[in-house]
Amino acid sequence: MSRRGVCRQLAGWMMASPLAAQLDLPYSGERAPALEELVNVFEFEPICRLRLPRQNYDYIAGGVDAEWSLRNNRGAFDKITFRPRMLVNASNLDLSLELFGTKLSFPVLIAPTAGHILATPEGEFATARAAASMETVMILSTNSSQPYEKVAETTKFPKWFQLYPGPDMETTWERVQRAKESGFTALVLTVDAGYNSHRERLLRNRVQAQVPAGVRSPQTERRRRVREEEAPEVDRPKMYGLSTTLMHKLDWVFFEELKKRWGGPLLVKGILAGEDGALAVQHGADGVIVSNHGARYLDYAPATIDALPEVVSAVGGKIPVLVDSGFRRGTDILKALALGATAVCVGRPPLWGLGAYGEAGCKRVLELMRTELALAMGLCGKATLKEIDRTVIKM
Ligand code: GLV
Repeated sequence: MSRRGVCRQLAGWMMASPLAAQLDLPYSGERAPALEELVNVFEFEPICRLRLPRQNYDYIAGGVDAEWSLRNNRGAFDKITFRPRMLVNASNLDLSLELFGTKLSFPVLIAPTAGHILATPEGEFATARAAASMETVMILSTNSSQPYEKVAETTKFPKWFQLYPGPDMETTWERVQRAKESGFTALVLTVDAGYNSHRERLLRNRVQAQVPAGVRSPQTERRRRVREEEAPEVDRPKMYGLSTTLMHKLDWVFFEELKKRWGGPLLVKGILAGEDGALAVQHGADGVIVSNHGARYLDYAPATIDALPEVVSAVGGKIPVLVDSGFRRGTDILKALALGATAVCVGRPPLWGLGAYGEAGCKRVLELMRTELALAMGLCGKATLKEIDRTVIKM
């Protein structure tokens, strides 16, 4: 057959192939399913991939290096099963909890992620509304594509702010001040991103591996200027071809200064070792978030469901321990709660919701997670979060 003939035949097959089959979804037909048809959070991802420009989708989806941690974040949940209890009255389900003075309808918060405009034109405004309508907290990223102040005032529901220090101390304190004046009720310091990571999926696509264009804030511009104009005489990471953030030079002294300047609840995000959990308590943290940054920084960082027990044990119940990276199912959340987490944060799923169906998709993702958690709790014989303990699981 001629080349033209082969091409024509291929095009014919593509046309004939139902869209749902191309999406690898269990729906038939030529159209993407309607929002109400989706039955779990995973199903939002292929629709998000279909609807977004490839580089936007890849930025959201990608992990670091060989993406072992990305796979393992999911695989680790499969090693844990439940020990459901029977003939207990679990009819009075209540998933609500209070965190730093805010009542949440269920123990799932929106993790900080950069540039929601990559997923939906309204960006973080849509996310803030979805979170508020589900009565949960959105943690706004330093790399928000919308101004912090405007996101803060989108809804009345309390929001937290995630801080990347940088590019210099002056800008860092300015960010803290802006967050404070905007009324964010807690600050989350990310500590695992001192060196910019090697995101091979993006590098191969020639997409900027960190915050992509389109999310270039005044802060990003300042960071570029500082790098160019104030590079120290011998920049050792640079000697090894590495790119860094201000975080790589900071330690707990900075944390204590931040605590003084912020003056409100301060959480530290990116903790994976018990020793660091204990240090966080010692230096006055109000909460820790066990996280491997959605497997976007250090490959072979442990799955957070595996790291959680040692951090919970080191923290000893003195402050809340939250956890993120890879949570998709209500059963994942119940496993973390059983291991001592106070709540779970989710990063990619709300972005899949936004990318697939905008604000309504983001809300639906949260709703599905809440329903699945309620069902898992009910079937395990646990009506409230307080009743959940280690006896719920087998591992
Ligand atoms: C930002 O935090 C990222 O992981 O891209």
